[in-house]
Amino acid sequence: MSDQPEMIRVEAVSKSFTLHNQGSVRLPVFRDVNFSVRAGEVLVLAGASGAGKSSLLRILYGNYLPSSGRIEIRHDGSMVDIASALPRTILEVRRRTLGFVSQFLRVIPRVSALDIVRDPLLARGVDPAEATERAGAMLARLNLPERLWALAPATFSGGEQQRVNIARSFVDPSPVMLIDEPTASLDARNRDVVVDLIAEARSRGSAIVGIFHDESVRERVATRWLDITHFRAAADAA
Ligand SMILES: Nc1ncnc2c1ncn2[C@@H]1O[C@H](COP(=O)(O)OP(=O)(O)OP(=O)(O)O)[C@@H](O)[C@H]1O
Ligand SMILES: [Mg+2]
Repeated sequence: MSDQPEMIRVEAVSKSFTLHNQGSVRLPVFRDVNFSVRAGEVLVLAGASGAGKSSLLRILYGNYLPSSGRIEIRHDGSMVDIASALPRTILEVRRRTLGFVSQFLRVIPRVSALDIVRDPLLARGVDPAEATERAGAMLARLNLPERLWALAPATFSGGEQQRVNIARSFVDPSPVMLIDEPTASLDARNRDVVVDLIAEARSRGSAIVGIFHDESVRERVATRWLDITHFRAAADAA
């Protein structure tokens, strides 16, 4: 494993929120977080509810700015600091390198489930017929009934939407994947499929950071753990 390239390097990242509409109260979350993730690793973030796991993932994706520190992602062979990159650069890194899987599908009106899953393949230049076939195979693997494929997911159940979202993310796994509780409303059979998809992405060389509510999922996918409770920023409040 140690001969694999580092894909994510987090250096001295701290985060506190300032609640501007509530008297500028400062809410420290964590401080001085350091870790790196190589291609082929799954780093599981652990820690109690409210410890800051989702916030850390959003910082890695460039949705939240850290209060200090660097977040480097390997993109096109060199490290890009997400904390200081231009918005245009972040979009480019997301398009080709950095994926985020949340438990919620961002539903686009009138776009079918099949098209939602096909889209990332087409964006990466896959032939349309092949893209359709791979998208269908992925939806079938996640047990989404074929009668739903041509429909827009707005009316789907929570678990069905979640599976469309997972299918879209794993039909062509990104080199770096950030995963926040993707299996929250899935049954055991579909959870097992997600565990397999993560293992396959990993063996194809993706570097993955994930948060998993379900302990058995956590234990099956992890190659390493990071308990972010160790980086509590309570002392920072002073
Ligand atoms: N946008 C925000 N503005 C202000 N505070 C925030 C914001 N996002 C998160 N927080 C605070 O940061 C802390 C960490 O939240 P976060 O969602 O990262 O926790 P978590 O570890 O993912 O918890 P859970 O396991 O419940 O999902 C919480 O106290 C939360 O209230
Ligand atoms: Mg969370």
